[in-house]
Amino acid sequence: MATIKVRQNGSYLVDGDDVTLIDWNGNAYPIAKRPFALCRCGGSTNKPFCDGTHSKVGFQAAEAAVPESRE
Ligand code: FES
Repeated sequence: MATIKVRQNGSYLVDGDDVTLIDWNGNAYPIAKRPFALCRCGGSTNKPFCDGTHSKVGFQAAEAAVPESRE
């Protein structure tokens, strides 16, 4: 099973051995290690991967999952 974790003020952490990351042409990116992090801030020089730039530029994002309301 694959999971994508939204990191607080950071990247998307993708975990799972069955995940393939492809570009718009359908070509796979080589994945050096798992889990791997995808850039969410737009500042990485190694897109689509996170290179840690988010912490240098002070990227902040406040989205958190909201539990479904219970009736
Ligand atoms: S989220 Fe890490 S460099 Fe963009």
